[in-house]
Amino acid sequence: MVSTKTVLGGFEFDNCLMNAAGVWCMTKEELEEVKDSVAGTFVTKTATLDYRAGNPEPRYQNVPLGSINSMGLPNQGLTYYLDYLLELQEREPERTFFLSLVGMSPNETHTILKQVEASNFNGLVELNLSCPNVPGKPQIAYDFEMTEQILSEVFQYFTKPLGIKLPPYFDIVHFDQAAAIFNQFPLRFVNCVNSIGNGLYIEDESVVIKPKNGFGGIGGEYIKPTALANVHAFYQRLKPEIQIIGTGGVLTGRDAFEHILCGASMVQLGTTLQKEGMEAFQRITEELKAIMAEKGYEKLADFRGKLQYID
Ligand code: SIN
Repeated sequence: MVSTKTVLGGFEFDNCLMNAAGVWCMTKEELEEVKDSVAGTFVTKTATLDYRAGNPEPRYQNVPLGSINSMGLPNQGLTYYLDYLLELQEREPERTFFLSLVGMSPNETHTILKQVEASNFNGLVELNLSCPNVPGKPQIAYDFEMTEQILSEVFQYFTKPLGIKLPPYFDIVHFDQAAAIFNQFPLRFVNCVNSIGNGLYIEDESVVIKPKNGFGGIGGEYIKPTALANVHAFYQRLKPEIQIIGTGGVLTGRDAFEHILCGASMVQLGTTLQKEGMEAFQRITEELKAIMAEKGYEKLADFRGKLQYID
């Protein structure tokens, strides 16, 4: 029997596919839909301390090979997602869900994480160090000193399972430097990758989104090779306790297979889920299982991380 079950951060999931933060996760209603699909779990929209309206519209566009967005972290605020997750964990105690969060400043991040620490939340936290879309706020994980400082401070008080959402890196030296930092901490996972920040898509003579004069994060088919490179680079460099979530360019079961081959333990759907809707989970799961069956693999561990090199 072919199974796409997985284990991440010590928790078991019936399927290795889930949504990526930002897609189908703004409201409880959307999160319930993901929960009740074949997805193994869900992650919330990245929560800030307070409600945020985000950037002006239009701020997301599907484009032929993917998407461009500059949402600007619109979300309902921490309490909304945390209260929902606390209620859900009473209702479905056997399942585990992800809470994505980040503050608008390091102090706000600590305030949020301290609230989560003090709560009864028993799922996984994804600290988003990679949003490219808030004007004037650089992507935290491109600043290695700041990243190390935040993680050092966080792990002085935060004892619950925590991972980080990363932007793509593009240089081998940066993979080495980032991994050396992450390996110092009891992270449960890194999620590779958020959108490729600050791309520009043009139709006729105009940009297609309003914020930042059209600059926005690129997702979808465009980014799969970059996502796979990041998944594999961190799989090669991180201590085994830090698992990898693969995100970026997953349109088919074959794409999910490649993420797992590169080392991913969980695979997230972003642009594809936005474009195709919830049916994408079923289709991609079936396609992944068909590839596994054809190759004689029964479980993800049979091929995870086993990318072949040319001698
Ligand atoms: C956004 O809300 O701008 C997208 C979030 C992200 O890319 O982290």
